[in-house]
Order: sequence, then structure tokens, then C-alpha cells
Amino acid sequence: MRIAVCPGSFDPVTKGHINVIQRAAKQFDRIIVVVLTNPNKTPMFSVEQRMDFLRRSTAHIENVEVDYYGGLLAEYVREKGACAIIKGLRAVSDFEYEFQQALTNKKINPNMETLFLITSSEYMYLSSSIVKQVAQFGGDISDFVPEAILPDIRARFSKGE
Ligand code: PNS
Repeated sequence: MRIAVCPGSFDPVTKGHINVIQRAAKQFDRIIVVVLTNPNKTPMFSVEQRMDFLRRSTAHIENVEVDYYGGLLAEYVREKGACAIIKGLRAVSDFEYEFQQALTNKKINPNMETLFLITSSEYMYLSSSIVKQVAQFGGDISDFVPEAILPDIRARFSKGE
């Protein structure tokens, strides 16, 4: 069985993430979407909320499951017996950071590959930070986040938190 891991902080999951997960799911037997800690970010949503959003947004994709891990991504990949990390690559600005991460992960776990899927052009601009910023100022985020979680994201911002 060929297993791949789709990692991220998913704060929250966007339609761009789902597009990448959906395409990855066609290439592998099993996809594990894993919520990890990005030490450079302070998440707005709890791990439980982010996992719940991911589960509801990927419920229609049969071979996808959702998990959390508090350690290194490359160790997680080893633990799960996965052969690849799948990442979406948006623009030139993503490249240097992703390149560094991929090389570091390969150093820690040489038995896996990092594969990049080029983001669909309709989601080229999209990120979780953009979603939060638009929502914070009362903008329409319906094109940005999966329909299944839209009311939850809107509710979070209407509380004015
Ligand atoms: O969605 P993000 O925030 O760009 O995802 C980054 C993430 C969470 C995949 C990355 O920070 C990560 O892999 N964190 C776990 C710790 C780790 O393994 N870091 C890479 C080696 S330095």
C-alpha cells in the first residue's frame, strides 16, 4: 500500500488545501492529512477544531484520514510507513522555504520523497492567513473555505475574537 502524508498547520483548511488533497488522493492508496506544529505561527483555531474542519471537508474522499502529531514531520512519515510528503506549491515565494524543509526532511528520513503539486491557478493567491484577514474585516470568504465549515469560520469571527 502506498501511503502519502499531506502536512500543514491548516489554520483553517482552505479550498486550496482540499484541491491538493483531492489530487494527491488519486495518486496514492491512502492519504494521511496531518496537523503539525509550525513554530513560526500562532494558530487561531485549536488542534481539535482544525482536525474537525479537515475531517468534515475531506469526508467525501474515501482514502483520506486526518491525524495530529506534535513532533517532526519526517519522523511521523517513518512511523506511518509512508513513502512521500505531498505539498502544494503556490508561487516563487513558497519555493525557498519549501526547498529548505524538503532537504531537512530528507536528511532526517532518507527513505521518503517530498512531492510538490502545483496549486491550481484559481487558488494561486489563497492561504489560511488571507482567509483570516478577509474574515476579520467582514469580507466574503465563501470562495476560500470549504462549504462544510463556512458557518463555523464565520461564527468564529462574528464573535469578534
Ligand atoms: O501549513 P504550514 O504552516 O506551512 O506547514 C508547515 C509545517 C507544519 C508542515 C512545518 O512547520 C512542519 O513540518 N512542522 C513540524 C516540525 C518539522 O518537522 N519541521 C521541519 C523540519 S525543520
